[in-house]
Amino acid sequence: MCGIVGFAGKNDGVNFLLEGLCKLEYRGYDSSGIALYCNDEIKIIKTVGRIEKLAEKCKSDKVSGNAGIGHTRWATHGKPSEENSHPHLSNNLKFAVVHNGIIENYIELRQELEQEGFVFKSETDTEVIPNLLQKYYNGDLKNAVNKTISRIKGSYALGILCKDYPDMLVAVKQFSPIIIGIADDCNIIASDVTAIAPKTQKIIYIEDGDVAYITANSVEIYSDSLMVERRISIIDWDINTAEKGGYGHFMMKEIYEQPAVLRRILKEYLKDNEICFPNINIDKELIKEIDRIVIIACGSAYHAGVAAKYLFEEITGIPTEVDLASEFRYRNPIITEKTLTIAISQSGETADTIAALTEAKRRGSKTACVVNAVGSSIAKIADNVIYTLAGPEIAVATTKGYTSQLLCLYLLAIFMAEKISLDHKAELIKELNKLPSKTEEVLSVQEKIADVAKRFTKTKSIFFIGRNMDFAAALEASLKLKEISYIHSEAFAAGELKHGTISLIEEGTHVIALCGYERLNDKLLSNIREVIARGADVLCAANNRNMASSVGADLFSIPKTHPLFTALAEVVPFQIFAYYVALYKGCDIDKPRNLAKSVTV
Ligand code: F6R
Repeated sequence: MCGIVGFAGKNDGVNFLLEGLCKLEYRGYDSSGIALYCNDEIKIIKTVGRIEKLAEKCKSDKVSGNAGIGHTRWATHGKPSEENSHPHLSNNLKFAVVHNGIIENYIELRQELEQEGFVFKSETDTEVIPNLLQKYYNGDLKNAVNKTISRIKGSYALGILCKDYPDMLVAVKQFSPIIIGIADDCNIIASDVTAIAPKTQKIIYIEDGDVAYITANSVEIYSDSLMVERRISIIDWDINTAEKGGYGHFMMKEIYEQPAVLRRILKEYLKDNEICFPNINIDKELIKEIDRIVIIACGSAYHAGVAAKYLFEEITGIPTEVDLASEFRYRNPIITEKTLTIAISQSGETADTIAALTEAKRRGSKTACVVNAVGSSIAKIADNVIYTLAGPEIAVATTKGYTSQLLCLYLLAIFMAEKISLDHKAELIKELNKLPSKTEEVLSVQEKIADVAKRFTKTKSIFFIGRNMDFAAALEASLKLKEISYIHSEAFAAGELKHGTISLIEEGTHVIALCGYERLNDKLLSNIREVIARGADVLCAANNRNMASSVGADLFSIPKTHPLFTALAEVVPFQIFAYYVALYKGCDIDKPRNLAKSVTV
């Protein structure tokens, strides 16, 4: 979703802005633009489409400047067009603004400003901001910024340039991500670390409500108009992890990173077979107080939550629910101080998950999160934080994000269960330790999976079915396929098929049955027979031939793992499957249409 970069330095910042925007491309965008203080005026350059076009335009217009802001826009208010893309200028051309988030009261603000004679050029919610700045500006920039943000409601990360302060940029954060990078010859802002890391490892994670005034030599941060100190953190990941490193796509690179990520998690959180989480404070006493676990998440993170629900109930005995954050936040969830709410998120910035977690906390719930992005909003809100240590994930379709969440959730479930009573902990830990090599096994048969994928390039629709952990894995396998290959696909709890969906099964319908959770394979077998009887073309995802042979179906090999951990390694071959189907269909694998990496609105 929208990306912001900004630069205040001693040298020309155009290249930084363009390179920074390229690093944020993965978030999803349809247009882009930059604003620079150049020859005594704020110069704006915008294009619809790829950043290469913007770079060409910048070159031909010969723009340069020591302070500037840039933006990649993912359309929400108004179609992708140059008028709607950011930066937006105030009527008097004094202020340029880039924005990520949503201004909820923009219609009334726009009407108010129009009545005062302001003219609007775009359909966006953002354009009210530069015009409010103009309205409140009387030579005092801080006063104008404060008055403007007191008028706007919603979520916003802003980058602001003011013509009267040619060396300065202003950053504002309220429920949308923006961070500051401190480098030797410049200070910079960006929506996330990927755009900053090539320039510096020193990061300031500003807080909601903060306003930062940034020049090449200084960063002043204010909260409620008072100057505050915010700590400088050193990011410790290698910049190369945000490069393709010889792979055709980030998605394949990230699939291949999974064994290493899983090993890193085990090394970090398992010491002499004891689970130790550095940032959590969930002890025996607290667990005794919990009568319910509520997991909230979106998309693939929700699918990790579905698998975790089965595991938490099985080994902790605590009733566990999993809810879509976008549903949870708009109903009246029954949450008490005896509830433990666990938010799962790769980015830590998903708007619905943030809102749901905040609501759970407001209702008195104890909170924890399983999150990848260090210092992200969700990590800040939750009382207990487990980092998934996956490193930056650039491909829009999550792979290592999902498997790392699952492994952390497995560890958390065992960690809690042993504080209640768990007699087979040693066995479970032993099985967890096998997961990295099980995942490697899958990578070694990548070519076979690619061969199977060839058969599906003309397919219009696929059904994935499974029970229990296989159902959780089916949800994720199906999402991976549809989001990058655009093939319609649905996942069903296999026992639910005959309550309606089976009417869609006809001669040649593709059904993929996930058979990793062997405890329920007898039941699943009946469901497979039911669809075969109606003409379905079935592929059995299993770790041996038996299921497939007994129904005369083809085998899709998956690794054998402990039944409770099925949903992790079983999904990896389907990530590769989805990748190849999309590749053969010529789809934009890393940046599928209409999607954004981080859904911040
Ligand atoms: C799918 C995918 C999304 C995310 C979802 C939640 O491949 O990546 O479904 O899982 O948007 O994002 P996070 O985990 O960042 O909260």
